[in-house]
Amino acid sequence: MPAVDLAIYAVAAMGHAALWIVAVNHLQARNVPRRILEAICWPMRFIAVLAPVGLLVASRYYDLSLVGRTDWSTIPWGVVFYVGFCALIALVALPPWLVWALRHQQAQVTDHHAVVRHDLSTHGQVTHHSLKNRLLASLPGNEFLHLDVTEKSLALKHLPAELDGLTIAHLSDLHFTGDIAAGWYHEVIRLTLELDADLIVITGDIVEEPECIPWLAEICGPLRARHGVYFVLGNHDTRIDYRITRQELTAVGLVDLGGRWHALEINGQTLLLAGNELPWIRPAADPRDCPATESTSDDGARPVRICVAHSPDQFPWAREHGFDLMLAGHTHGGQIRLPLVGPIVCPSKFGVRYASGTYFESPTLMHVSRGLSGDTLIRWNCRPELTRLTLRSHVRPVVEDEQQAACSSH
Ligand SMILES: [Fe+2]
Repeated sequence: MPAVDLAIYAVAAMGHAALWIVAVNHLQARNVPRRILEAICWPMRFIAVLAPVGLLVASRYYDLSLVGRTDWSTIPWGVVFYVGFCALIALVALPPWLVWALRHQQAQVTDHHAVVRHDLSTHGQVTHHSLKNRLLASLPGNEFLHLDVTEKSLALKHLPAELDGLTIAHLSDLHFTGDIAAGWYHEVIRLTLELDADLIVITGDIVEEPECIPWLAEICGPLRARHGVYFVLGNHDTRIDYRITRQELTAVGLVDLGGRWHALEINGQTLLLAGNELPWIRPAADPRDCPATESTSDDGARPVRICVAHSPDQFPWAREHGFDLMLAGHTHGGQIRLPLVGPIVCPSKFGVRYASGTYFESPTLMHVSRGLSGDTLIRWNCRPELTRLTLRSHVRPVVEDEQQAACSSH
């Protein structure tokens, strides 16, 4: 095949991959039953990978050249149309995405935070019978048993001085599946308690195998913080009877925020937490039920509101209802982050836009954790994350970009 044709097919292959990745990302962000989702997504993944390979093999036996071709009756028009369509997608959509991805990576670098890296591989091991995860766990460079403990300071415009310095330990996506031994999680909990945060917040995907339900009390039970430990559930929690998960966690002292508000009084100020488990568990906390809307501070500002959600796809909801801060997980940072361009695959209707990190779109600042684990044990350049957030009332100038701004500051 001539080089020009090879180039056209290569560009089309990139557009083809982008098309199917976007489709899978969108599907996984929706409230679709697991079996149906997997029955749809796995063939889509195979099509994304195998279609270009199939075309390459076919080119050895059939004339698939496009440039200078005179006899168009011997090439299927469906192939010509699809290759042209995918090439168009690649040429129109990929350059702006690449520019965004490179700029986004730079923005993440300006997200000042301290990181302490831990190798917890001595505390856990792959224990499950899953052949997929046994194979993945043995891949070189896989960091799924490591842990980054990150410290970030978030400036909130309406945070009263009395709450300046309030700390939140943000955990997400523990994914108790039995694939990783309980000892790994015990070490994560020990490190969480070492952070001595005022609040601990877990943003979903806690347990998804019935055999791990006892882990809820055993592992999460010791979590304690001055102003409480809070949780919402995520899509993987719905793989079992999640009412049991709520019962087990509340029985050991954690506060269930699923679909409800919780008001806290700290230093004479009201802090409002609201749970949002959409789109998997309805309803989200009703803004009309907000327990305190009156000011308790001298400047007349309303109480600070924090949205605790599983999916960053609820960012527009949080913005619409005037939340100051939103905490989320779900996307796991993409789990595989390529040099320069970052993650490719994320179960979000926004693709990789909110894969992990801090994002400000007025009036809400969102922190998306990379999470602690996943049901697929692969993490390249995307270590598990435990975060200690310090809320600050001082607002310093930040990178302002209407569409995308990373704005975590000290
Ligand atoms: Fe998750």
